[in-house]
Amino acid sequence: MKIDVIVSADYIKESLLENKVVVVIDVLRATSVITTALCNGAEEVIPVLTVEEAFEKKKELLSLGKEVILGGERQALKIEGFDFTNSPLEYKAEKVKNKSIVLSTTNGTRALNSCNSGEVVLIASFLNGKAIAKELVRLNKDIVIVNSGTNGEFSMDDFICGGYIISEVVKEVTCDLSDISKVSKSFYESNKNLRNVLKDAKHYEVLKALSLEEDIEHCLSQNIYNIILKYENGIIKKMQN
Ligand code: MLT
Repeated sequence: MKIDVIVSADYIKESLLENKVVVVIDVLRATSVITTALCNGAEEVIPVLTVEEAFEKKKELLSLGKEVILGGERQALKIEGFDFTNSPLEYKAEKVKNKSIVLSTTNGTRALNSCNSGEVVLIASFLNGKAIAKELVRLNKDIVIVNSGTNGEFSMDDFICGGYIISEVVKEVTCDLSDISKVSKSFYESNKNLRNVLKDAKHYEVLKALSLEEDIEHCLSQNIYNIILKYENGIIKKMQN
């Protein structure tokens, strides 16, 4: 079982994902939002690239009789005409239960939309990292961890979360790690105090400047949700585990 890491959405190539189990990560905050919403009972999350696409998708789903929430951000702020921002704390059970969430974010939903060639595509964050690691062991196939990054650049928060998942997988099964996977794993293993190491990360600073410390706290909570999320045919749903 091989494990490789892609460091940001700009580096995703279809050929790298074919026949692989792909794990998409955007800790701050897209995959944490997706994990929270689905754990709180949302029926599905549909990641879209543009604001226009989001409004179109909402119309289409409403015509099918679904209840729809538009969520996401641009520059970490609410999009005009949308219902929710990209704060995971907004996606509470009483608001999202049985609803379809159409989500558009700067990096996370872009990364997801570039991963369609993966054989299986899973969604991970610190919130469900252990559940995803267990599923990777069960699937027993070559893995590519896709870090969404920030505006095409490497981001520490995604890299350390990927390292955590790799660290959990190798406890159970012997793996052939690429050099970048080894660095990701050892970055996590030597920095288990997440708040301490991530306080200097660029996007952490952006969210802090917007007084979104509670979002950060939530996104760095490890394994509060025991769920596996799968992206298939443009839709993310919870798998039974
Ligand atoms: C993104 O997908 O770009 C992020 O989740 C940005 C954010 O809302 O923090």
